[in-house]
Amino acid sequence: MRTDICERLGCEAPVFAFSHCRDVVVEATRAGGFGVLGAVSFSPEQLERELKWIDEHVDGKPYGVDVLIPANYDKAAEAAEQPVQDLLPDEQRRFMEDLLAREGVPPLSADDAQVAREELIGRGRNSTPAGARKLIDVALRHPQVKLIVSALGTPSRALVDELHARGILVGSLCGKPEHAVDQRDAGVDLIVAQGTEAGGHTGQISTMVLVPQVVDLVSPQVAVLAAGGISRGRQIAAAFALGAQGVWMGTVWLGTRESELTPMEKDVLFKARTEDAVQRKYQTGKTVRMIRSKASEAWEKPGAPKHLPPPLQNVLYHSARIRIEKARRADLCSFPAGQVVGTLREETSVRQVMADLMNEYAETAERLSPLINL
Ligand SMILES: Cc1cc2nc3c(=O)[nH]c(=O)nc-3n(C[C@H](O)[C@H](O)[C@H](O)COP(=O)(O)O)c2cc1C
Repeated sequence: MRTDICERLGCEAPVFAFSHCRDVVVEATRAGGFGVLGAVSFSPEQLERELKWIDEHVDGKPYGVDVLIPANYDKAAEAAEQPVQDLLPDEQRRFMEDLLAREGVPPLSADDAQVAREELIGRGRNSTPAGARKLIDVALRHPQVKLIVSALGTPSRALVDELHARGILVGSLCGKPEHAVDQRDAGVDLIVAQGTEAGGHTGQISTMVLVPQVVDLVSPQVAVLAAGGISRGRQIAAAFALGAQGVWMGTVWLGTRESELTPMEKDVLFKARTEDAVQRKYQTGKTVRMIRSKASEAWEKPGAPKHLPPPLQNVLYHSARIRIEKARRADLCSFPAGQVVGTLREETSVRQVMADLMNEYAETAERLSPLINL
């Protein structure tokens, strides 16, 4: 399954593992794939520690870092001096507070509240261009980082040129054909064509429809990876058939023992059906496919306030997620996951997922080859 992008990035298989968890990144990379760490959940100082750990455990292999550079965000909140949590409008802050109080979720203890506050001071502006830049500066201190990927907006030509001059390839996520054209024109090397089935920020077009459109617009100049709804080898074969050079997966790693999810969140993950992975603005103010809960649905009801733009809604979500976790309230627990969640039933490991992907891909290729050679 080696394609051109494997040669360019120095991996054995074009299986890209996106995760916020360093253990997933390391295990997927060591198993022959290409791990990409989602940096948005770390302060620059924490990211420095995570990347140092990955450098030490990845057997000298290259890996990637992903940041969010949104086109639309709250510019005043990005520029303000105060901690982001002090910028929340009363209406939305009260709504979340009342929701948790009504559900009997206790406030955090003074110590936990202080930890949560400091965490948010460190990472609260990550989902703005200035915040993303700080994270990229950390990544640039780690020579094994060979790919930087941006989501939610097209990276600037200046950033692409700067990263190229340092020998780093640049990727971006896209959910619409017109975005792929902008990204190609900005000089990116790789586009992740991400269908609506995916976990995380998603558009409305399915992977099956999006991937060939993007391939036709940007290949061969730009390598295309298929994302959204991929968790098994048959789907990798389908991605190649659509013209992709590889696959990019996120949800499947959540069910591994290496994943960052807590035991309660894993329980929610394994119980969720495909139709529980819905698009909501509850987490970031932009459309995220996530597992629905009483909390995400409360924000959809008539009378609920408007969601806040990045980075503010995430501040509310993050604080609520900690309280919900401490109170062990699975019914209020929502986090990003794609439609393949309905196929995840028990804990596995990154190694096992990689082996299953490869085996099923090989069987599929064998099954298809007589059809193709007819
Ligand atoms: C828990 C979770 C968090 C995500 N966070 C990000 C993120 O921070 N940056 C990003 O580019 N994509 C993010 N994504 C999207 C993934 O990069 C990927 O495109 C998506 O998971 C692929 O579809 P799949 O979920 O069906 O595998 C996230 C996905 C999940 C499941």
